[in-house]
Amino acid sequence: MPALDAAQRAHSAALLALLRSRIEACGGWIPFDEYLEQLLYAPGLGYYSAGAAKLGAAGDYTTAPELSAMFGACIARQCAPLLHSGGELLELGAGSGALAEVLLTRLAALEALPDRYSILETSADLRGRQQQRLARLPPALHARLRWLDCLPAAGLRGVILANEVADALPFQCYAVSADGYAERGVALDGQGEPCWSERPATGALHTELVRLSASLPQPLPAGYHSEVCLRLGPWVSGLAAALEWGWLLLFDYGLGRSELYHPQRMSGTLRCHYRHRAHDDPFLHPGLQDVTAWVDFTRLAEAATDAGLAVEGYCTQAAFLLGAGIDAELAAAGNALDRARRASEARQLLMPGEMGEVFKAMALSRGLPDPPGAFRVQDLRRLL
Ligand SMILES: C[S@@+](CC[C@H](N)C(=O)[O-])C[C@H]1O[C@@H](n2cnc3c(N)ncnc32)[C@H](O)[C@@H]1O
Repeated sequence: MPALDAAQRAHSAALLALLRSRIEACGGWIPFDEYLEQLLYAPGLGYYSAGAAKLGAAGDYTTAPELSAMFGACIARQCAPLLHSGGELLELGAGSGALAEVLLTRLAALEALPDRYSILETSADLRGRQQQRLARLPPALHARLRWLDCLPAAGLRGVILANEVADALPFQCYAVSADGYAERGVALDGQGEPCWSERPATGALHTELVRLSASLPQPLPAGYHSEVCLRLGPWVSGLAAALEWGWLLLFDYGLGRSELYHPQRMSGTLRCHYRHRAHDDPFLHPGLQDVTAWVDFTRLAEAATDAGLAVEGYCTQAAFLLGAGIDAELAAAGNALDRARRASEARQLLMPGEMGEVFKAMALSRGLPDPPGAFRVQDLRRLL
């Protein structure tokens, strides 16, 4: 791991002090989702709230919009038919603003600019960076932008878009033993450092684990540990309530439930990202690394259906991009250098060993019989 500089050490130490006091105030143990809430979102100190680079080559991990403008161009092609006659686009967790920049530019070229492009971003740091970046858009495009402090309660007609936001919601951790289910939370070790600590699972988590295990082709085996995001359902319900008519498009890494919780995946999918290195120690460098887990797309689909949305499409990111015209984006390269750059980006977006297969696209809809056309290339809804 690259060494920390003095400012990073001070930042991490300040967040560690906050985490310690939170754990002590709660009697020496907190659930993992509460630990993550502080680790990622504590005002001014959490990974997302504070000033680390986070996304892109200078940060800790790369997302599809950071990697290539072709990702946003493909989404613009898919949203244009719906937005031709007006409507709103709401982007959740807009990161550096890269996707918003491409979408507005390409939708303008397709004569399908949304009446408004709203961004809901929980991180004050990223919101500031988005505003700085998007200030360079032409005034006619910039005028469409607004930043929201909370989700609209209802009435949104158009498209809600979230790339890699579901995986950023705090999740709980559990373990299975012959005695039943344990919740893996966080305590302090003899040196006062945060560490894993298990308690019998109770309440909503226990109910959910019983339900989860019963819904799988084979029950979760003893020795298994993994993650579950109970916040996913309420998050989708809120988005569904906001959407009066249109599509909710979600992109993220994850699987349907029976594959995600397959007995062969004995240690779950928790991953930490620091300077483009992945590992599984969520206690390393608090505030300086991202901590995530794969998304349970079955949970997303169930919550959407419960909230009155139709699950109209579910496929790999590669299938979505191929159906959305990434080949035309490649062909539009201006010169040999641009062609080589785009080809390299397309490989990373599409190849199974890169982002092509583990990343999925999901289309949820209200009041529209069809998903965006790209979802016709592949239908993986049987795996949900
Ligand atoms: C992994 S980053 C992805 C950023 C961007 N969408 C991209 O693909 O480059 C997660 C983003 O979601 C934001 N976020 C996390 N929880 C959120 C929530 N409940 N609502 C809106 N944004 C959220 C984070 O601050 C961050 O901008």
